[in-house]
Amino acid sequence: MKMALEILKLSIFVILLSAVAVFASDWELKAPTGLKFETIKGYENWYVVATHYRRDKNELRLIIGNDIAVKAYREGIPLNGKKFPEGTILVKIGYSLKKNPDFSVSFEPDVIQRVEFMIKDSKRFSDTGNWGFARFVYDKRSGHYKVWGKSKRDYIQCYSCHKIVKRKDFVFTDYVKRR
Ligand code: HEC
Repeated sequence: MKMALEILKLSIFVILLSAVAVFASDWELKAPTGLKFETIKGYENWYVVATHYRRDKNELRLIIGNDIAVKAYREGIPLNGKKFPEGTILVKIGYSLKKNPDFSVSFEPDVIQRVEFMIKDSKRFSDTGNWGFARFVYDKRSGHYKVWGKSKRDYIQCYSCHKIVKRKDFVFTDYVKRR
């Protein structure tokens, strides 16, 4: 009897432990480029660089950067022809839109569609302009993220398209003035 109780206690403990592990597991997701989601842990508190709106996708995008990124932008990079320093991270969050319930001509972010980022790391990503790319797609139903893309090949398209702005160190977004 005592033994059965101990086993029961132990299994409850294991179940609780695995529930916590699932909760934290999204940070462990790893894109085929080798970059984990946890590379950008804490990004909720980073700085706004700019917003974009894609008319064809009806999606609002928020571009945020870590302190290295924002310091570089404020120094005039990349428009001054210099490159972003090692460790720069830029994150893009895509949101679907909804009407402001209290003011219908105003639209606001609704559900996160995906979080993606690029990190400057010339040792690891010299083949792709010294930037590493990763994308995590949000699944509304489960509340969890999934890795986008199956192989490194899928990620070549990130670099290919960002090459349009090679002259700006492969970064589309300019820093938006606040004053
Ligand atoms: C067909 C073109 C295209 C492809 C493919 C693409 N991007 Fe972008 N990306 C853009 C554009 C344009 C922007 C500017 C912001 C916007 O319009 O949303 C951007 C912005 C970004 C930004 C913010 C920094 C910047 O350059 O402005 C990140 C981070 C980013 N993309 C990551 C990725 C990742 C990761 C992939 C691949 C999984 C990817 N992109 C694939 C066109 C592309």
